Amino acid sequence: AVQRTFSIIKPDATERNLTGAVNAVIEQAGLRIIGQRRIQMTEDQAKRFYAVHAERPFYGELVEFMTSGPVVVQVLEGENAVAKYREVMGATNPAEAADGTIRKLYAKSIGENSVHGSDSEENAAIEIAQFFSEADIAG
Ligand code: CMP
Repeated sequence: AVQRTFSIIKPDATERNLTGAVNAVIEQAGLRIIGQRRIQMTEDQAKRFYAVHAERPFYGELVEFMTSGPVVVQVLEGENAVAKYREVMGATNPAEAADGTIRKLYAKSIGENSVHGSDSEENAAIEIAQFFSEADIAG
């Protein structure tokens, strides 16, 4: 079925001017970018977005990184978009990511790993709503 998923191009990628390069991989995979905005995430936004990881030892570092520079938040649409984007991103740890994936191509480390993608359709809806109103999405 056609789904939406939520994506973030992270500060390590925007800092290296890789927004277009990442978007090329997304579009070549057949996903459509139907919403996109470049923002500076606030500490509150990052903490809320990653609340599920609040007890993890890397939470503080993660929030600090995600607010260290601009990010590009995106809504992606396509057949099976949630699973497809996870495949396109590659493994969280770039050392384990498959050839041709965004993280294999561009990620610097497990923390500075260039992109985020939702892990389920349910979370995608929750994450999209944190950054987009329907008026800013056009499929
Ligand atoms: P993301 O898909 O954005 O969701 C949670 C993030 O936590 C993950 O990508 C990684 O960037 C980050 N993360 C996971 N494990 C670690 C770790 N061991 N150290 C630092 N960051 C991590």
